[in-house]
Amino acid sequence: MRILVTGGAGFIGSNLIHYLLATRPDVEIVNLDKLTYAGNLQNLEDLPDARRHTFLRGDVAEPDDVARAFGAGVDQVFHLAAESHVDRSILDSRAFIHSNVLGTQTLIDRLRRQGHGRLVHVSTDEVYGSLGPAGRFTETSPLDPTSPYAASKAASDLLVLAAVKTHGLDAVVTRCSNNYGPYQFPEKLIPLMITNALEDRPLPVYGDGRQVRDWIHVRDHCAALEVVSREGRRGEIYNIGGVGGERENLVIVRTILAALGKSAALIRHVQDRPAHDRRYAICSDRVLGLGWRGQFDLEAGLRETVRWYQEHRAWWEAVKSGAYRSYYEQQYGKRLG
Ligand code: NAD
Ligand code: TYD
Repeated sequence: MRILVTGGAGFIGSNLIHYLLATRPDVEIVNLDKLTYAGNLQNLEDLPDARRHTFLRGDVAEPDDVARAFGAGVDQVFHLAAESHVDRSILDSRAFIHSNVLGTQTLIDRLRRQGHGRLVHVSTDEVYGSLGPAGRFTETSPLDPTSPYAASKAASDLLVLAAVKTHGLDAVVTRCSNNYGPYQFPEKLIPLMITNALEDRPLPVYGDGRQVRDWIHVRDHCAALEVVSREGRRGEIYNIGGVGGERENLVIVRTILAALGKSAALIRHVQDRPAHDRRYAICSDRVLGLGWRGQFDLEAGLRETVRWYQEHRAWWEAVKSGAYRSYYEQQYGKRLG
């Protein structure tokens, strides 16, 4: 089976390639990635059975690059290539429209032309907006995005779902909650807090820090994507959430500090994110019905992740140099005063 993974040099994409090579002896993988600031070939250095993986640098929104990746044809596409960070989308949203919206349409067009092959469109629970103190997102919750990132993902989901109807595209859409684990770029909450604490820098917590996310280990997400690729029904949406993964941000930050033996005095409450979603919680019943079960307990998964960043200092020190510094200054300079 020939599988195309887009965005396979990023956090989830590289974990997915590790997972597929380890669990699916029947697959060969082509990985199309533009290598933006978030793409990193070091994430793919210790792949099991690397002969079954081919890397191509290219833009998912460029039809010629996508045609090159398809080659003689692909059986399945796991589409993860995207601009993925809410804060960056608030600073500048242009790249989000290019990669997330035009990129998805470009893939749809190629699959139409090929005439067969399944698209697993990897999306996010953020398309649903924010929850109050009770309830969970189901697949029929209304779309109500509150950031340019979430709006661009909602647009891409709708393009895929429309193509299923208009063109009979064989596609499924997944909407997962917040991932954590190895190889996550240190702009997202968990790796930012771990690496800042390791450097004894302040930990910038937005607002009161009592916002809730439904954390899932990236390997559980990858296992769910694999199950949906085989068992998912054409045109269906599948929410994917953590197993008992709901925590307030401050609880996550304090757990990280405790695991590292660092002081809570590093925590700094800073100016909130505009239109900051208060709470996410996922109802995963539909994907559970396909046989998927999450394996990771959040506290154990967090301890494992903290250890990974302790043991891979060279990886994140390289990532946190160069352009990262100007992003950090722009996002946090004023906030941290
Ligand atoms: P990431 O930012 O770590 O990686 C994105 C990858 O896509 C990078 O390797 C980047 O180089 C590549 N890319 C960006 N634009 C591209 C383009 N135009 N053409 C080709 N490659 C391009 O993101 P991630 O956290 O791994 O997220 C992957 C996908 O999963 C995204 O679609 C995101 O919306 C979705 N998702 C993420 C989470 C999460 O918690 N991180 C949760 C749910 C869904
Ligand atoms: P993030 O990892 O950016 O994911 P998302 O916005 O997609 O949920 O943020 C997770 C939560 O952590 C969110 O409520 C925002 C908060 N947060 C902070 O408090 N400080 C930070 O520096 C970052 C990056 C996030």
